[in-house]
Amino acid sequence: MDFKNYIDEAKALVLRGGPNASDYENLTSACQNLREQELTLSEEAELYGMMKPLLNVDSMIGFSYVKPNGYAGDYELIDRIYQQWTSPKCDDYHLWDDFYHNLDAAKAVRNRKEYLIKLLSSLEEEKDSPLVLNLGSGPCSDLYEFFKQKPKSRIHFDCLDMDSKAIDYASAVCDNYIDSITFVNKNAFRYKPDYKYEFIWSAGLFDYFSDKLFVRLLNRIYNLLADGGTMVIGNFSDDNPSRGVMEIFGQWYLHHRSKDKLTELAVKAGISAEKIEVYSEETGVNLFLHLQK
Ligand SMILES: C[S@@+](CC[C@H](N)C(=O)[O-])C[C@H]1O[C@@H](n2cnc3c(N)ncnc32)[C@H](O)[C@@H]1O
Repeated sequence: MDFKNYIDEAKALVLRGGPNASDYENLTSACQNLREQELTLSEEAELYGMMKPLLNVDSMIGFSYVKPNGYAGDYELIDRIYQQWTSPKCDDYHLWDDFYHNLDAAKAVRNRKEYLIKLLSSLEEEKDSPLVLNLGSGPCSDLYEFFKQKPKSRIHFDCLDMDSKAIDYASAVCDNYIDSITFVNKNAFRYKPDYKYEFIWSAGLFDYFSDKLFVRLLNRIYNLLADGGTMVIGNFSDDNPSRGVMEIFGQWYLHHRSKDKLTELAVKAGISAEKIEVYSEETGVNLFLHLQK
């Protein structure tokens, strides 16, 4: 199909108030095709002109596109995905919001919360009062849910985020468990604590970095891991069926990587191959690089 056909189909969806479940597959694959075609400036102008009614912070797609906090995938957007938020203001966006929350990428984000909670529950059983670093901690709904399930947990978390608004938001979310969390408002590249961690978790951060920065940060942070400790890094897979929707509608660009690529980068960061494993959550969209020390 050429660009004009895609635009005509998208126009029809906008006029209808958004896609129904029977449209999801076509719309998702249309976006995949469009991202591979590399749109010209005038095609982009036509596309975003047609989508304009939707492109504001009151819809999920609009929030991704507008980036009110200055970058894609900020703490507020991620929390909206966790909560499966739909616009209270405008009925017109519900179909679009439902489409967004049904994307494999959105499911993968929600799955990574469960993935972390399982890892923390095992850690709780294995170690006495472990210290955990959560790097690029965002909204901390994952920790809120962990503590709701395990209110007596003896884990202490250092939650580091360079966005002070994310820290304020997360502090409010985790208010009931604040004695178990230390918030650190810092850039991950400048973080130099004088103690080590039993477990380090970082989801939705390394996939914003080029390979060079990935290796540099991994090398630094792996040094903060205590002997016998584990570090887990989440990164979107290069096999992400929602990538077109994220890039075309939301202008949300990530460094997607394969299992082999993640392993290669870990080796480049100085970690020996037998300490490296890569897993994924159910959709396969979020990969998890596991590193032992
Ligand atoms: C996509 S969100 C992921 C949040 C959380 N890990 C989750 O999965 O729910 C990425 C977070 O990393 C933070 N961030 C981005 N670059 C950072 C850096 N260089 N140092 C510290 N935090 C950073 C952002 O402010 C944002 O809150």
